[in-house]
Amino acid sequence: MSNPSIVGFSGNFSRPSKTRAFVDLVVQNIASRHHLSHRTYDVEDVGSSLGAAKWQRDLDAQAQIVVADVVAADVLVVGSPTYKGSYTGLFKHFFDLLDPTALRGKPVLLTATGGGERHALVVEHQLRPLFGFFEAFALPTAVYATDKDFTDGVLRSELILKRAAQAVDEIAVLLATKSGLRIAAE
Ligand SMILES: Cc1cc2nc3c(=O)[nH]c(=O)nc-3n(C[C@H](O)[C@H](O)[C@H](O)COP(=O)(O)O)c2cc1C
Repeated sequence: MSNPSIVGFSGNFSRPSKTRAFVDLVVQNIASRHHLSHRTYDVEDVGSSLGAAKWQRDLDAQAQIVVADVVAADVLVVGSPTYKGSYTGLFKHFFDLLDPTALRGKPVLLTATGGGERHALVVEHQLRPLFGFFEAFALPTAVYATDKDFTDGVLRSELILKRAAQAVDEIAVLLATKSGLRIAAE
């Protein structure tokens, strides 16, 4: 992708997916607000080479495009369905294949979906440490939605949409700071 970009990556591997729909909603919101090119991927888009890959070089061309877009993104929105109290195994495996420095300093908005409220802290206890490992700039507001927040696969809960808007505002602050720093350095 060219231009400043926002990329969504969702850990679902079946469709339709509430998680993918939610990640894409947030991606489109940020993209239209900041005039960024945008793209949302999920594990299904990465394709079948992911499961067998031991190293990034084992991925096929289709998967390499997803990796390249995720690594090059100016802003990343990640999300995963909660499986057994955590992100899906293939979501983690995708990030396991990246170089440890690949996401350093990147603004990352954390989201997850789950069947109920019980695992709402998956965003704090599972996703945040993973992106902490990468030294990414995980935003303070992470967003978790449950099945009941969706109607016909679309996130409708006012409360969750409000929380997502709060995270989107944090992106705006970060992007303004980054562009201010860039102008000051020129
Ligand atoms: C194998 C499996 C494990 C799951 N484990 C959990 C869980 O531990 N906690 C939870 O809240 N929901 C759990 N769920 C429910 C999903 O997280 C939830 O329905 C999610 O929103 C589905 O997202 P999707 O539509 O993107 O696939 C599980 C679902 C599956 C299929």
